[in-house]
Amino acid sequence: MSATGHHASFHAIEWHHQTLRLLDQRVLPHEHKVLEYTTAADVADAIRAMVVRGAPAIGVTAAYGYALDALAGRDLQQAYKVLAESRPTAVNLFWALERMASLGTSDAHALVAEARRIHEEDIQANLTMGQFGASLINDNSVIYTHCNTGALATGGHGTALGVIRSAWADGKVTQVYAGETRPWLQGARLTAWELMQDKIPVSLVCDSAAAQLFRREKIDWVIVGADRITANGDVANKIGTYSLAVLAKHHGINVMVVAPTTTFDLSLASGDDIPIEQRPQEEVTSVFGHPVAPHGCAAINPSFDVTPAGLIDVIATEKGLIMQPDAESVALLLSR
Ligand code: MRU
Repeated sequence: MSATGHHASFHAIEWHHQTLRLLDQRVLPHEHKVLEYTTAADVADAIRAMVVRGAPAIGVTAAYGYALDALAGRDLQQAYKVLAESRPTAVNLFWALERMASLGTSDAHALVAEARRIHEEDIQANLTMGQFGASLINDNSVIYTHCNTGALATGGHGTALGVIRSAWADGKVTQVYAGETRPWLQGARLTAWELMQDKIPVSLVCDSAAAQLFRREKIDWVIVGADRITANGDVANKIGTYSLAVLAKHHGINVMVVAPTTTFDLSLASGDDIPIEQRPQEEVTSVFGHPVAPHGCAAINPSFDVTPAGLIDVIATEKGLIMQPDAESVALLLSR
């Protein structure tokens, strides 16, 4: 069975009998463990711990977390606060919480319905932006992607991976390269798994091998997702995206960012203003709990970087394409 969205063979996020079920993405693909949640505080812990990840998926999950506390008659201001403190960079989290709170009700029925709507709208947006993005891909294209932006990272289908799926369905893709994405290996564990389920040819690449690959092979597109896009078109995404964009520029490769409009933050003028999550050093000094660096070795672990708009050829959204993004073209598209 296909893994492309709400018809997927798995559900990253599922509302079931007044409980939130999350597929534990920390142990995929070799273990399929579904965890159940009934409080916003536990949902916030799950987001922080990477049980669920990816900007749109974090937003959908937070909406359900808020609804869980409404169901139990708990304080919704506290639910908002605890969820908002889970991860700082993906703006979809704050967007979803604002949308829930702006209903101005503690009625659980209404809040569950709103969370479900946020979930369904994200899937629909993914399918639409997948078509927009795929329209730019020529026949026989080779695509490099980073991190995981698929059905696991969204309500379903995916952003960058959604474009790849749509372009593949149109017969335009011959090969996908997936960067492994240290330290959490979202590329190696999750993207490779999703693409293999759809029988899309994928080869895994050590992050440090991208430059040589770009020099030696015909790569047509680097296609990635986003965690926050500022008013001038700068993009925060998984650490390593900026390096790929610089490399793509040097080698004449096109760069496409794919994100729903819920990932835009027009309150920030540029990427310099985006809060970048710093994660524990142990994620770098160890590999999944196995120490590799000398005991006590220091490390830095920024989870995201910022790619300046000038390195991006196009941003694909569900409202359409932003070619050569800048403050003007971003404002124009979002005002539609
Ligand atoms: O730390 P993660 O796994 O949550 O980071 C995910 C990414 O950076 C994705 O590229 C981004 O959220 C877009 S997902 C459709």
